[in-house]
Amino acid sequence: MTRQTSGRAALRWAVSSAGPAVVLLDQTALPHAEVELACADVPALVAAIQRLVVRGAPLLGIAGAYGVALAAARGDDVVAAAGLLAAARPTAVNLASGVEIALDAWRSNGGDPAAPLAAARALEAADAAASAAMAEHGRDLVVGLVPGKARILTHCNTGALVSGGTGTALAVVLALHTADRLDRLWVDETRPLLQGARLTAWEAGRAGVPHAVLADGAAGSLFARGRVDAVLVGADRIAADGSVANKVGTYPLAVLARHHGVPFVVVAPTSTIDPATADGDAIVVEERDGAEVTSYAGAAVAPADTPAYNPAFDVTPPDLVTALVTEVGVIRPLSSESVRSVLPRTARSGATMDS
Ligand code: MRU
Repeated sequence: MTRQTSGRAALRWAVSSAGPAVVLLDQTALPHAEVELACADVPALVAAIQRLVVRGAPLLGIAGAYGVALAAARGDDVVAAAGLLAAARPTAVNLASGVEIALDAWRSNGGDPAAPLAAARALEAADAAASAAMAEHGRDLVVGLVPGKARILTHCNTGALVSGGTGTALAVVLALHTADRLDRLWVDETRPLLQGARLTAWEAGRAGVPHAVLADGAAGSLFARGRVDAVLVGADRIAADGSVANKVGTYPLAVLARHHGVPFVVVAPTSTIDPATADGDAIVVEERDGAEVTSYAGAAVAPADTPAYNPAFDVTPPDLVTALVTEVGVIRPLSSESVRSVLPRTARSGATMDS
């Protein structure tokens, strides 16, 4: 079960007299309420994924794997359910790969429903271990890059809410805080759905991390005033050439960081690297309902019928990334060769990894 700092799990498998269910902490209700949503079948889980009840790349992979286990436990058409789950959101590679891992387990065990459940549990445990390793590698990297206490800027939400463990970029921030090497966390609000203001500020507050939320457009003034020492973000898919898809608004931060000579660090498990996606142009970026931009909390903030541009992610080219922190070490610079170096042995050559 993916444990949240409050004690409620971001995701858990439950079996009751009503049958099995994937139970989610409803992230759309945070920070106002901690409510759970029980998904008793795959269509309910797919709808929850699309509404961002459950979100963030690693947790989407775990949710997809548990979704396959749910279909198998119910005696549903597992292959069809896997197809629905994998297609629920296109950008985070972990979703499709988590589904595939559980589906492979089901197939290779003669359709035994226990197999995808065990695979989902193993994936969750592996992600927790990856979180812990990334936290250590990332902490050591930042300590080496920034003398004294660091002022870190982050975007979107990358903590325990998105992971089987403590997360990706936020796990590094927590490790810096524990080591007394964090001055302050700057939290981009992350328009339009406010994952920064609603979720990262919630997690930071619970962990006692000194933090402040800013409007996304205010980041430039922070850099101009010399008040950012490093940017730490997560990723939804890293292409074979090192291009990084992450929450829309990440790329402008990378450009600002380069202009101001500030390190821009991506923290992501190797499960987020997709060697089958050649480069940034090949990454499918989810386009979401324009109403997310033209309204706020259900109230219109633009004239009725105003068209909107609402990509959920953007793509940062590898040359703007100072380093990629993975569970197996830090790679820099980011390139096709260095990305290959952290992938399974078959693809390795010219490793530039330090761990
Ligand atoms: O649309 P979301 O909220 O699922 O987007 C999440 C992000 O962009 C995160 O930064 C990303 O998944 C990395 S979190 C480990």
